[in-house]
Amino acid sequence: MCYPFFGMNEGRFDPLKKSGLFEEMSWKMKIYRAKDYEAMSVKAASLLFAQVMLEPRSVLGLATGSTPIGMYRCLVEWYRAGRLDFGDVTTINLDEYCGLAPDDPQSYASFMRENLFRHVNVKGEDVHIPNGLAKDAKAECARYDEIICRSGGIDMQVLGIGHNGHIGFNEPGDCFQKDTHCVALSDSTIAANRRFFERESDVPRRAYTVGIRTIMRARRVLVLASGLQKAAIVKEAFWGPVTPRVPASILQFHGDVTLLCDDEALSLV
Ligand code: GLP
Repeated sequence: MCYPFFGMNEGRFDPLKKSGLFEEMSWKMKIYRAKDYEAMSVKAASLLFAQVMLEPRSVLGLATGSTPIGMYRCLVEWYRAGRLDFGDVTTINLDEYCGLAPDDPQSYASFMRENLFRHVNVKGEDVHIPNGLAKDAKAECARYDEIICRSGGIDMQVLGIGHNGHIGFNEPGDCFQKDTHCVALSDSTIAANRRFFERESDVPRRAYTVGIRTIMRARRVLVLASGLQKAAIVKEAFWGPVTPRVPASILQFHGDVTLLCDDEALSLV
């Protein structure tokens, strides 16, 4: 299903305003400005900390990329200090490269193990990441959606944002893809992720990602962005029209989004 294009923040859509929906939606987007990457990471970790403290059986939707690394570092520190318990938490990762084994150092499974899972007491059976080596892509997507459904849905979804507005690996397109799917990565995403691989030809061309429906159904969404190189896309995604050409823009329609950026990432708004 394709969603129509809206220009929610352009002030041209009076019917939305009259219905109260406009106020409702803009009201609920909380924007926090942190002075730098470290401060952003501490604030992000604090939100996850509160989530897990209040609901120890939380289902956390987790992201990879360089942006959340500082947040994971804080969580590990707080776990080691005895302040946090992941024993009843379930985690559902957003995405994984096709063709990479979970023990491949470039896989997102390895990323999560190194940055969080091996340092805390989350149970192996409660950790979920798409299987990059699955033989049948369609079956793997269905399996993953089933896991999400059985978990009862995501309580707090952490997201980074790609330079082209992708969330997870939901790439710009003509419509929003609802369910977990296998996606051909765009040239700009391949170029952006090149830095993690030895050669450009090593960067996988395809990936599994949860769909936009899963993200939109999360009870709370936390979007992180850091650095000047994210300033333009942050402005476009959250202050521009809602369009599948900028997948993150759909979050303007989510009822409980927190946008947490450092000064540089908010420098254009
Ligand atoms: C990858 C991930 C995304 C992530 C994005 C941004 O493509 N699939 O989940 O948000 O990169 O990464 P970074 O935080 O390194 O800028």
